[in-house]
Amino acid sequence: MKISFNESLQKETGALALFAVEGPRLGAGGEGFDKTTGGALEKAFKASRFTGKPGQVVSILAPANLGFSRVVVIGLGKPGDVTTLKAENAGATLVATLLRSGEEKVSVLTESLSELGLAGADFGCHVAIGMKLRSYHFSKYLTKQPETKKVSLKEAVLVSSASGLEKAYGEAGQVLEGVFLTRDLISEPANVIYPASFAAKIKELEKDGIEVEILGEKQLKKIGMNSLLAVGKGSAHESHVAIMKWNGGKKGDAPLGFIGKGVTFDTGGISLKPGAGMEEMKWDMGGAGIVTGTMKALALRKAKVNVIGIVGLVENMPSSTAQRPGDVVKSLSGQTIEVLNTDAEGRMVLADILWYCQDRFKPKAMIDLATLTGAIIVTLGRGQFAGIFTDNEDVAKGLEAAGNKSGDKVWRLPLNDEYDKWINCDIADMKNMGDGPNAGSITAAQFLKRFTNDVPWAHIDVAGMVWTLKPGRAWDKGATGYGVRLLDQYTRDNFESK
Ligand code: BES
Ligand code: ZN
Ligand code: ZN
Repeated sequence: MKISFNESLQKETGALALFAVEGPRLGAGGEGFDKTTGGALEKAFKASRFTGKPGQVVSILAPANLGFSRVVVIGLGKPGDVTTLKAENAGATLVATLLRSGEEKVSVLTESLSELGLAGADFGCHVAIGMKLRSYHFSKYLTKQPETKKVSLKEAVLVSSASGLEKAYGEAGQVLEGVFLTRDLISEPANVIYPASFAAKIKELEKDGIEVEILGEKQLKKIGMNSLLAVGKGSAHESHVAIMKWNGGKKGDAPLGFIGKGVTFDTGGISLKPGAGMEEMKWDMGGAGIVTGTMKALALRKAKVNVIGIVGLVENMPSSTAQRPGDVVKSLSGQTIEVLNTDAEGRMVLADILWYCQDRFKPKAMIDLATLTGAIIVTLGRGQFAGIFTDNEDVAKGLEAAGNKSGDKVWRLPLNDEYDKWINCDIADMKNMGDGPNAGSITAAQFLKRFTNDVPWAHIDVAGMVWTLKPGRAWDKGATGYGVRLLDQYTRDNFESK
C-alpha cells in the first residue's frame, strides 16, 4: 500500500476516513461532513452503538451529497489520552476494515480533532505507521483467490497540515521495510527458506550498504563451531553462519551485536517432536529473521552506529547422520556439552555464535533473539511479551523502555547461580537442558550465559511473539515482525550519536 501526504483534501474519490474521540465527537472537519450528508454520520453512530472507544469502527456506505463511496469513522478513546500506540492501532483498524473491502483508495483526515494529547505530526505519523503495518499480507502462493477476497486497498492519502509529518514518516517507513523483510522471511515455508537460501537473501542486503560475510560448513569446521554444526548434521542442507556489518558509527567504535537463532526447520531431530503443529517450526528461524530485518532498517535509515548481526542458519532433522541424545560436543568456547535432548538445539546454535561474536568483534553489548523454548509460551502466553534475561541493569532498563515505546513489549525473568547449577552435568561441562521441564526458559538462558564471556548481554525469547494465529494490534494472522522496532528503538535511544 502506497502512503502519501497532502495538506488539504483533494478529490472526493474512494473512501474517506475520520477519527472520533469518546462522546462520540468528531472534529471540526468531520462535523462538516455530517452536515453535508444530512446527519448520516450521527445517525450511524446511534444505530451502531458507536461511542468513539478504541477499536470501534462505523462505516457509512454511499453517503448522500458526497463523492466518496463510503465514510469510515474510527474511535480513538478519551480525548487527551491518545498515545502513539493508540494512533497506530486506529490506523491499523482502519486498514483492517478496508483492505479487502473493494475500496482502492482512502483519504484519511488526521487533523479533524484538537485536544488529542498528541502533536498533529505525531498523530498523523503513527496513524500512517499502523496503516502500513496492517496492510502487509503474504499471498504469493494463493493462485485461486476469489475476487471478493483479494486485497483491494492500494493507496492512502493522509490529509494534514501538520509540519514535519512527511519527514517523520519517511524515517519510520524505512524501519517498516525492515519489519516487512522479517515478516517475509518468517512467512516462507522451509522448502523455500533453508540455510543457503536464507544466506542468499542476507547477501542481498549488500545493496543497502551492509557488509555481508557468509561462512559455510568447511569454514565453520575450521573455526571450531562444533556445537552449531552438530545441530545441522542430520540435514541434507549445509549449515551456514551469516555476518552482517553496518558501519554507520565512528570508525573503531565498538559495535553492538545482534545474534539470531536461525533454525530453518526444527523437527526436534532424533528427539522428534509430535506431528501435530510441527509446521509451526518453519518459523524457528524467527530470531534470525528479526536480526536480518533490523540490520536492513538500520541501514535504510543510515543509523549513526556500528552494529554486527550474526545469525546461525541450520536445519534440525532426524537421520542416520544426525546427532544423538547422549552425544558430547566441544563448543567453540572449549566448553563441552552433553546433548540430552536434540530438540534443545537453539541454544547449541547460539552458544557458538555468541562466543564468536564477543571473541572477534569485542562488542559493547550483545542481544540474542531466539524462538528458544515452548516454556516461554507457557509463562507469558502468545502475543503479549517476549521474555528477557539479563544480569545487566542498564541493558534491562534500555530494553524495557524501548519495548514500551515501540509496542514490542518485553518482560524480565530471573537468572541466578542456583538455576545455573541445574545444567551442570556428570560427564561434560554442561548438559543442554535442566532437570525436567521446570523453569525451562530460565535454564535455557543460563546455558547461553555461559557463552557470553561476561560481555553485557541479554537474551530475548521470542517464541510467543513471532507468529500469531489471530490478527493482532497491527498485523494479520501469521508473521508479526515483532522485534525489529524493539531493537531499532533500543539502538536509537542508547547507542546512536545524535
Ligand atoms: N523451537 C523450539 C521452541 C519452540 C516451541 C518455539 C514452540 C516455538 C513454539 C525449541 O527448539 C525446543 O524445542 N525447545 C524445547 C527444549 C526442551 C527439549 C528442553 C522445548 O521448549 O520444549
Ligand atoms: Zn527444538
Ligand atoms: Zn528450535
